[in-house]
Amino acid sequence: MTAHLQQRGDVAVLVPAAGAGVRLGPGAPKALRLLGGIPLLVHAVRRLAGAPSVAVIVVAAPPDDVDAVRDLLAPAVAGLLLIVVPGGGDRQASVAAALAAVPAGPQIVLVHDAARALTPADLVESVAAAVRAGAEAVIPVLPVVDTIKTVDADETVLATVDRSTLRAVQTPQGFRRDVLAAAHVAAADPHTDDAGLVEKLGVPVVCVPGSERALKITRPFDLVIAEHLLGTEPSPRTLLP
Ligand code: CTP
Ligand code: MG
Repeated sequence: MTAHLQQRGDVAVLVPAAGAGVRLGPGAPKALRLLGGIPLLVHAVRRLAGAPSVAVIVVAAPPDDVDAVRDLLAPAVAGLLLIVVPGGGDRQASVAAALAAVPAGPQIVLVHDAARALTPADLVESVAAAVRAGAEAVIPVLPVVDTIKTVDADETVLATVDRSTLRAVQTPQGFRRDVLAAAHVAAADPHTDDAGLVEKLGVPVVCVPGSERALKITRPFDLVIAEHLLGTEPSPRTLLP
């Protein structure tokens, strides 16, 4: 394989992890809730660290837990640079805080939700590879399986959307560093993902196949699914180090 297709250590990953997890119910911030006895954030960072392209991980932590998160993650990131910063008031602010802390060097930046705790390292590599191959912005997607309808304020159906044109979007999302930085500088309103900001710049966003294992743990039922997935992971190497 040629050098431009596979290059080690040219990627920084931003991990927004400062959310409260309101939809998961009362308890610790979501990134610190346990799955199989291990915090979600540790699961997520272990898998990122298992992707050979990743050199730097910047975590936006709950502001009260910055030091605790640094200690918690240290054993999972041997050989990588770990930076932990206080997160912001919404996801976008947390990503912006993490982006500001990326050191000089990496020209590929991925953004990955801590809540997608079981995302395989292979997906991280495929997103990074697509950016390395020339894409300015890359998102992992899955087809939408449900029929989707728009409704009015009274929950009366307005229309049925053509499902074949819809995609469910996951993380990690990958960007050329300058493109992501420009998108955050230009950000005028809140977006739930970073590709949404990049789209506003008129930059093309490329899709790659996502993974059902990259589900976002949002509600209590998702924890049940994740617990099951944890017991069915295909390869022990995704659990290292
Ligand atoms: N996030 C963040 N900073 C915030 C809000 C969210 O870093 N102020 C992160 C979360 O930690 C999560 C990701 O953004 O990894 C996606 O957000 P979401 O799944 O909505 O998590 P929460 O905001 O924690 O959950 P909820 O909306 O139910 O409170
Ligand atoms: Mg949220």
